[in-house]
Amino acid sequence: MSGSRKDDHVRLAVAQHQALPAEPPYPAGPFDEVRFIHHALAGTDRAHVSLRTRFGGLNWPVPLYINAMTGGSPKTGQINRDLAIAAHATGVPIASGSMSPYLKDPSTADTFTPLREHNPDGFVIANINATATADQACRAVALLQADALQIHLNTVQETVMPEGDRSFAHWPAAIERITAAVDVPVIVKEVGFGLSGLTVAQLAGLGVRVADVAGRGGTNFARIENGRRPHADYAYLDDWGLSTPEALLDARGRGLPLLASGGIRHPLDIARALALGAHAVGASGIFLTTLLTGGTTALVQQITTWLDQLTALMTLLGTHSPADLAHCDVLITGSLHRFCAQRHIELRSQGASR
Ligand code: FNR
Repeated sequence: MSGSRKDDHVRLAVAQHQALPAEPPYPAGPFDEVRFIHHALAGTDRAHVSLRTRFGGLNWPVPLYINAMTGGSPKTGQINRDLAIAAHATGVPIASGSMSPYLKDPSTADTFTPLREHNPDGFVIANINATATADQACRAVALLQADALQIHLNTVQETVMPEGDRSFAHWPAAIERITAAVDVPVIVKEVGFGLSGLTVAQLAGLGVRVADVAGRGGTNFARIENGRRPHADYAYLDDWGLSTPEALLDARGRGLPLLASGGIRHPLDIARALALGAHAVGASGIFLTTLLTGGTTALVQQITTWLDQLTALMTLLGTHSPADLAHCDVLITGSLHRFCAQRHIELRSQGASR
């Protein structure tokens, strides 16, 4: 695992996001097919709205987190430091990028430890892949004094990655060994291709506590890895995977509390994901792009604005907690509606079952 690959990921992910407008009119995305029914008398008082969210034994002050990105090279170490400063300033939980570089070469530890050093009291999540041993999982948690551990599932990325893994059959057994070994809750996530209901049900049987569906719609790792191939020969996989709303609808009620990430563009998308059953919502590429174009001040401003506007949306929707959003009336339209029909997903008029 080379540091230059980590630098490539940052460069190519930011290029994807810079190609899209960060301000209105926003790029079209899968969340556009989720609409709240407006009830003009539903509103509550802002003073009665709390952003606190509890799920799977976790208790977070806000339903928003900086999702896994990076570490392993000097440049990505600085990015981790700046992300940690923003997390500390805003109180959002933060996940490390894959700690495989540290597990292979302990001298890269100082590209990950800023996540804890600059965010001493924050909720920090270590991140490993499903090929890690139980001992390596414990070392990753220990390095960051992590409050939880993410295991990422990335078969599509590995397939397109020129130097990628080609051996996936042992992943479920490895996940089970890791969940038994670590003393923090384990969150399993995708990296932008979505977790299906079937996968979430499997994970529930492996000792996993929380699933982050991490669906399609934002940073696209098929395109990123294809961009690292001389002939971009996997371009036909650009649209692979479940979108984040599809994955949420497919996976809810399958035995694990859900987190949502992938393609979150603004606070309304956060509210939509919470309405579809997520307990908290993560963003990666958009925050990274803000950081690298405007610095920590811009990222702190963006996160603060998102939390403020999420509170405003919850006020107008008459919801007092993130969990209440699951009882809002939502309309599912277009291809998302067809997806639900084919997957036999029942859409109740009054919110989503959790
Ligand atoms: C990622 N992501 C990621 N995920 C993971 O579990 N381990 C990792 O090491 C990385 N690395 C990584 C690098 C960069 C530069 C980006 C932008 C993202 C995936 C990330 O956590 C998330 O699942 C997807 O990016 C989808 O979310 P966004 O970017 O659409 O908000």
